[in-house]
Amino acid sequence: MEQPLNLSGLDLRAEIDRLRRERNAVVLAHYYQKPELQDLADFVGDSLDLSRKAAETDADVIAFCGVRFMAETAKILSPNKTVVLPDMDAGCSLEDSCPPEQFAAFRAAHPDHIALTYINCSAEVKGLSDIIVTSSSAETILAKLPADQKIIFGPDRNLGGYLARKTGRDLLLWPGVCIVHEAFSETELLKLRAQHPTAPIAAHPECPAVILDHADYVGSTRGILDYAKAMSGDTLIVATEPHIIHQMEKALPGKHFIGAPGADGNCNCNICPYMALNTMEKLYVALRDLKPQIEIEEGLRLRAKKSLDAMLSMASSSVGQGDLGPARVTGD
Ligand code: 13P
Ligand code: SF4
Repeated sequence: MEQPLNLSGLDLRAEIDRLRRERNAVVLAHYYQKPELQDLADFVGDSLDLSRKAAETDADVIAFCGVRFMAETAKILSPNKTVVLPDMDAGCSLEDSCPPEQFAAFRAAHPDHIALTYINCSAEVKGLSDIIVTSSSAETILAKLPADQKIIFGPDRNLGGYLARKTGRDLLLWPGVCIVHEAFSETELLKLRAQHPTAPIAAHPECPAVILDHADYVGSTRGILDYAKAMSGDTLIVATEPHIIHQMEKALPGKHFIGAPGADGNCNCNICPYMALNTMEKLYVALRDLKPQIEIEEGLRLRAKKSLDAMLSMASSSVGQGDLGPARVTGD
C-alpha cells in the first residue's frame, strides 16, 4: 500500500544528498528509473554493471533504485551492507512467472540439464540454479559451456529463444515473459519505421521474436546505450523501456530517440510499472529510516550466491564486449 507521505517544504534532493553523506550510502539506479532518480544516483547501469557495483562498493548502505530482484542481488553479494529499496512492491513479471516450487519440480524432471537462469528471478530461484546470466553476459557465458551440455533456460522465454536462435543451441525454455517488452506492437513498429526509414531499431532481448526480427541491434540496456553513442545517423528507434532515452538525450543532445510503440501507437504502455513505484519521496524515506530493508536468510543467501558468483567469474571477459548485438538472427 502507498505510504502517506507529507514531505511538503522539503528540498528532497538536498535531503537525499545530506542523508547519503551521513549514512555513507551509495545510490545505485537502473536505466529504467525516473530521470530525477537516474540524475542523483552515484551509478546508473544495467543489471550486470549494478551487480558488480554492489559487490565492490565500500559504502555502508546501498539504496537501490531498481526492482526487488536487483536489490536482493546486492544483498546476496554484500551481506554486511544495509540494502534499502524505496518500494518493496517493486517486483518483476519475470520473477512472478517463475514460482520456486514449480521451478524446482521442472529441474527435478530434467536431472541431466543444468539451469542457466536470467537474473530477473527470486533469490529462491537463484538458489535452485547453477549459473545466473544477465542480458549482457548470457551469450559469453553460454559460449563457455560444453556444446553437449543440456540446459534449462528460464524464466524469460524471449531472451532464451533469442539465444537459442543466435547460437544454434537447444535450450529448454521456461515460459515466462516481461509484460513491458511483450507490449510492443509489430504493426505500429513497422508504421514508425516507414516514417523514419533510415533510423535503425535497437531492441532488448526480452522483446518477442516478431520485434527482434526487425532490430538492427539486440542487447542489454547498456548495450543499447553504447549502440546509440556509436551510431552515425541522427535518429534511433528504441525498443525497450523508454526511461533509458533520458541517458541517450543527455549523452547525445543533438540526436533524436523514439520509443517503440505499443498497440495504442505510443510508448507509454511500455513504462515498467514496477520500476515506476520508486520516487524521490520514497528514496528520501528509505535513506532516513533505513527501511524497507532487504533481508535474506543466510542458507538461502549462500545458495543464491553460488550461481551469482558463477556469473561474475564467467562474465568477467565480457566487460564492454559481451553484449548480444549487433545482429539480426532472422529476417535479414
Ligand atoms: P538489463 O540487464 O539489460 O539492464 O535488463 C534488466 C531488465 O529488467 C530489463 O527489463
Ligand atoms: Fe521486470 Fe520487465 Fe520491468 Fe524489467 S521491464 S523489471 S523484466 S517487468
